[in-house]
Amino acid sequence: MSSEFWPGAEPFKIKVVEPIKLLPREERINAIEKAGLNPFLLSSSQVFIDLLTDSGTGAMSDNQWAGMMLGDESYAGSRNFYNLENTVKDIFHCEYFLPTHQGRGAENVLFPLLIKEGQYVPGNMHFDTTKAHIEIAGGVGVNLVREEAYKPSVSAPFKGDMDTDKLRSFIQDKGRDRVAFIIMTITCNSAGGQPVSMANMKEVHDIAREFEIPLFIDAARFAENAYFIKKREDGYQNKTIKEITREFFSLAQGFTMSAKKDGLVNIGGLIGIASDEGLFRRAQERLVPVEGFVTYGGLAGRDMEAVARGLYEVIEEDYLEQRINQVAYLGKELTDLGVPIQKPVGGHAVFVDGKSFLSHIPQEHFPSHALAVELYIEGGVRGVEIGTLLAGRDPQTGENVMPELDLLRLTIPRRTYTDNHMKYVAHVFSRLQEKKESIRGMKLTYEPKILRHFTASFAWLT
Ligand code: F0G
Repeated sequence: MSSEFWPGAEPFKIKVVEPIKLLPREERINAIEKAGLNPFLLSSSQVFIDLLTDSGTGAMSDNQWAGMMLGDESYAGSRNFYNLENTVKDIFHCEYFLPTHQGRGAENVLFPLLIKEGQYVPGNMHFDTTKAHIEIAGGVGVNLVREEAYKPSVSAPFKGDMDTDKLRSFIQDKGRDRVAFIIMTITCNSAGGQPVSMANMKEVHDIAREFEIPLFIDAARFAENAYFIKKREDGYQNKTIKEITREFFSLAQGFTMSAKKDGLVNIGGLIGIASDEGLFRRAQERLVPVEGFVTYGGLAGRDMEAVARGLYEVIEEDYLEQRINQVAYLGKELTDLGVPIQKPVGGHAVFVDGKSFLSHIPQEHFPSHALAVELYIEGGVRGVEIGTLLAGRDPQTGENVMPELDLLRLTIPRRTYTDNHMKYVAHVFSRLQEKKESIRGMKLTYEPKILRHFTASFAWLT
């Protein structure tokens, strides 16, 4: 553990570098205009620092790359599958495991087995693909995160917690049979990468047991969540990340996971099932036609080996300490400048409160998206709007949904950028701070019907 030396050095040194280049300002303006003022449509070569996502964008270790050379590409029974299976059983509390190509693959396999037409799936706050797969399976996703999650300036140690009063009344109100399962997303991405406490997970577990409703975990950032429990929750200071993880997962019937985050890989997903053999058999049956045979599930052998090794690296405390501290460092630099951010800083990203930073831009003119475009022009940095643009339109009324939070997410890839890159991002914000009054709102000039944020085009308001 390196804590006695913190603030200190990264617990790794760099063996391979990938050059990145800041284009001249004129070229950046040209590039973003050609992209319809939508950073999603930029080529990555036009981006200097890419904070679009932490998903699949991290750096693997030499140990993982060495493991890739040991890929066993047998169709059935690859040795890498068994390595991964043993790892998953060791770290998480589960008897059964299936690989998938990524997180949404796991959702696509598991959810239709759990949901009957019209049933509800309450969670703290669903990620978009989770909500989409609930809906595709005929269900309705419901967010019951505690109220503080919607207040960026209110700090609390576990803002990802479920509001258990709301959960209980929801189940009583709808009736137990109309709830397919409960899902807890750790950390809670859509609420700003905010953690869920062990105490809250236990309460949710008790409610789930009382009503005999299965409880699952969306485990994409499980290690970051466990690290926050260790740092912030009484009684966990002397437990290892693995011990905390096993305890947390022992409270659920299973989990889906995108390994592209805390698997420390560029592609991969997992399904874990605690003990329900029947559910496992049905998941196996569904896996084969949609993902692949049960011992590869859409992954090459070498990819499974990289996940198996990544899962052990991600639970190392010096890794997590540097990871969480780097994200917090960017948050602190921005706070020192007076840039309003979601507090406290979450595990994988700093969320800038675009609506209050650019308070002169009304919400229907996409303040956080306007900020994303300006951030690119000013410094070649790519972030992503998580707000009014992402929320889309109400399918019934056709009106824009006005979410409470209108944020710009600066998502930090794992082991990829240095603290100097973070300092640079803060420097770009200091320039934006000076000229923020001149930043204009935007209107849509092309709007796809679903998932509009990915391919929409915009114009500045005059
Ligand atoms: N669950 C959570 C909490 C996620 O954050 C994601 C992906 C998924 C499920 C789906 O996993 O991408 O492997 O299919 N989040 C990425 C992001 C895309 O940018 O936050 P996937």
